[in-house]
Amino acid sequence: MRTDVVRLGRLSGERTGEMMKFLSSMRADRCIADADILVDIAHVLMLDKQKIIDREITKELIPPLLELFDEGIPEEVFDDRFEDVHAGIESLIIEAIGAEAGGRMHMGRSRNDEVATCIRIKLREDLLKQMSALLKVREVLVALSEQHIETVMPGFTHLQHAQPTVLAHHLLAYEQLFSRDFDRLKEAYARVNLSPLGAAAFASTGYPINREYTATLLGFDGVAANTMDAVASRDFALETLASLSILMTNTSRLCEELVIWSTSFVKFVSLDDAFCSTSSIMPQKKNPDTAEIMRAKTGSVFGAFTGAFVTVKGLPMSYNRDLQELTPHIWRGMRDAKESLRLLVDMLSSATFDTERMREEAARGFSTATELADTLVRSYGLPFRTAHNIVGRAVKKGDLSLTTLEEAAKELDPGLSLMGKALTQAAIDEVLEAQYSVSLRKATGGPAPLAIKIAIGERKKQLDADSCVIDEKLAKLKRAKEDLIADARRLVPLQAE
Ligand code: ARG
Repeated sequence: MRTDVVRLGRLSGERTGEMMKFLSSMRADRCIADADILVDIAHVLMLDKQKIIDREITKELIPPLLELFDEGIPEEVFDDRFEDVHAGIESLIIEAIGAEAGGRMHMGRSRNDEVATCIRIKLREDLLKQMSALLKVREVLVALSEQHIETVMPGFTHLQHAQPTVLAHHLLAYEQLFSRDFDRLKEAYARVNLSPLGAAAFASTGYPINREYTATLLGFDGVAANTMDAVASRDFALETLASLSILMTNTSRLCEELVIWSTSFVKFVSLDDAFCSTSSIMPQKKNPDTAEIMRAKTGSVFGAFTGAFVTVKGLPMSYNRDLQELTPHIWRGMRDAKESLRLLVDMLSSATFDTERMREEAARGFSTATELADTLVRSYGLPFRTAHNIVGRAVKKGDLSLTTLEEAAKELDPGLSLMGKALTQAAIDEVLEAQYSVSLRKATGGPAPLAIKIAIGERKKQLDADSCVIDEKLAKLKRAKEDLIADARRLVPLQAE
């Protein structure tokens, strides 16, 4: 039975299975196991380049590492007795090639910088996947907006009919939210993609290591400079989880609307059956369960965010083992958010919007009253507040005919009269049309057709730019990984055959 090489020196005594399980990070370490092999290879290449180890040792160390890269990590490495994957892999290497060469792999580093490096490698990949998923959601929203530039619907405040708008305007509002979420993730990425490797336990090392070299080999944009900060800090993860929490809040609002919109008294949308469930007792039911679960996943992501935050609070410098408990929160938060976004894409694109129902509701609840007040201002030169009060009174009386408006005006100020002047009943009727009200709202970002078309054009440009950001980062990571492995293979030519 292979032993944990790390424990052979200082400590004695057997540990129970329960203890080992409690202390081990193995379950979560499966997420960073592949990254750990890359980190090992980069570290060995650096030790070799800096002549900290002899070329002969390098030639012994690299083949088993490449084998792990090519064939995958054997299950026995994940045994809880190794505490973590770093100790598991080191133990495996020493068993494979002996301590003379294998025992030199961990020179000038610690598991503290090793784990921080692995987390950042995995997290940056996850961030790019998250950004891609988010981009797809935004693309669907823009594509749907293009189909619904003229789909008039009620806009709400306080969930009461407020003013008419168009479905495109509503969907573009969400795209804008998600666009900021994208920016937040992009900015988090910049702080994630820095290399802690070489920080060792926290004080770096007396060996002449080259931190910039391993950073480049591993596709990082630079080093996390202060070595104490590099091993002790997880704010890059907190920032990511905070961004995911905001993102999920936005997702949850959209889900909430899909739930409301699919009720039988609103009926603005019908979700594809695949995203719905039925009742085991009520045969007629079609419930929007996917949107509901997605709404609840927001709580799960907040849980990950809160768990991570509370773990860090109160930790003195530098590394403390508490940090091990933080890592699974990252993966859990990332997973829940990513799964949600991926399903959201299809849930939105397969939804059927009932444009007739939306149109029907658009002018309900006196939703064009604002436009009527504005018309009184334009036609009679009234102060807006006076016009607002006249229309408000008419609404209370129950209709917006010219006669009722005149009555309302007289009540407010006997000297006021709307009769015999610019406004006719026909003109009022036109103003009360939802479509007309929308068509006037041409300001930047408003719901008028031209404003929407301009917005869609701009959003498409932004989507293209954001897609390039992802592609560039992915290409850089891919190139770095290929170069790293090629460099390693070149050192041990036999491996290449
Ligand atoms: N498994 C640990 C973690 O996830 C890394 C090992 C550091 N262990 C230690 N005793 N210093 O954080």
